[in-house]
Amino acid sequence: MTAEPSSPTEPAPASRDLFERARRVIPGGVSSPVRAFNAVGGTPRFFVEASGAWLTDADGGRFVDLVGSWGPMILGHAHPEVMAAVQAAVARGTSYGTPTVPELELAEEIVDRTPVERVRFTSSGTEATMSALRLARGFTGRDLVVKFAGCYHGHVDALLASAGSGLATFAVPGTPGVPASSTALTLVLPYNDRAAVEAAFAEHGDRIACLVTEAAAGNMGVVPPEPGFNAFLSDICTRHGALLVSDEVMTGFRASRQGQWGLDGAVEGWIPDLMTFGKVMGGGFPAAAFGGRAEVMEMLSPVGPVYQAGTLSGNPVATTAGLTTLRLADDAVYDHLTRVGETIKAAATDALTAAGVAHTVQATGTMFSVFLCDGPVRDFTDASRTDTAAYAAFFHAMLDAGVYLPPSAYEAWFCSAAHDDEAVSVILAALPRAAQAAAAAQGGQR
Ligand SMILES: Cc1ncc(COP(=O)(O)O)c(C=O)c1O
Repeated sequence: MTAEPSSPTEPAPASRDLFERARRVIPGGVSSPVRAFNAVGGTPRFFVEASGAWLTDADGGRFVDLVGSWGPMILGHAHPEVMAAVQAAVARGTSYGTPTVPELELAEEIVDRTPVERVRFTSSGTEATMSALRLARGFTGRDLVVKFAGCYHGHVDALLASAGSGLATFAVPGTPGVPASSTALTLVLPYNDRAAVEAAFAEHGDRIACLVTEAAAGNMGVVPPEPGFNAFLSDICTRHGALLVSDEVMTGFRASRQGQWGLDGAVEGWIPDLMTFGKVMGGGFPAAAFGGRAEVMEMLSPVGPVYQAGTLSGNPVATTAGLTTLRLADDAVYDHLTRVGETIKAAATDALTAAGVAHTVQATGTMFSVFLCDGPVRDFTDASRTDTAAYAAFFHAMLDAGVYLPPSAYEAWFCSAAHDDEAVSVILAALPRAAQAAAAAQGGQR
């Protein structure tokens, strides 16, 4: 199966026209910045259909998808059983604004797979982390929040923060529009840095409501927690009366059946106080959640005093999609993701090595990414060394060969249960030339 893609210098005409139209009515032509090709150059493709491992663009080009809607599509696109369940749910009405059965059953599924005892649904991961912070502050009666540089938790004001002038000093807004007062209660520390965490707790421990961390960082490329790091975070939070908020929006039900927690917490015997989920658990619909132990979660309205709400939260269509997806995501799916991931990682390593491009492939469970720099990548400073110009060349060569990678050097690559031999062979065939393109870009020849 060959795609009919176009080169970055000759964008697909239908996509180009649609993008021009879009830019007249939508800032940058996209509803979320990372969909734009700003980081890699060229014109974003408009896709008109997605099925299994494949995307079809407005010009009829077909691409093997390694973005997977940025993580949710673990079963592949338009999975027949998910589609049938969603269509049946839609036929029963799309939103009642009342408690529903799929919402209950999805909560039970999440409680079954993870250590949380209670779940509250939201419509986006952003809302989930925003609500978890409010709950942590309400529960502890404290205001300070600790986060790590390079971890993304959605566009929550307090978390769109950059490190201040020193390690244990407060953060500054990471974007215009966030008031300094919102980040003045946030500390930003280097990921995987125990000494920095210890120093922050030594100085501010009795004022820290929570430490929020990606359970394994995925938003600076995949940077796993070093062995014991999450356990250390859990312990230091407990010792200081702060809550550990483990953000599993990306890793949840993806890194393993039980998310990142299944890879460390379940083995080592510790439990985050709060967890946030999204992506896979929404099955491609706007559904996310946060959860935790009953004592903390029951501080939420209507049981407790901490207010949190949402008109479409837990609606029957989105929760049906999520429930059906999770029920179908059995051990065989995770085994398949492991096998396909190993094949792609090995082929990427071989191709980049043969082309002489410095690179590091990092993974946590079934989630992986490719950095175009020497490793190991332990934190955001390391990740920032990735060669973005070489990645742009690599990305476009893959696109030209019919593979849709994330249009940014700092993203995980997501496979699905639908990535069969045919789809994988397209990826494997594309990698050597893409690696050569990256090498040429490093030589300034692009
Ligand atoms: C770890 C993590 N947390 C939170 C979010 C925000 O989720 P959403 O985009 O659904 O608001 C994301 C999104 O990529 C994420 O990766």
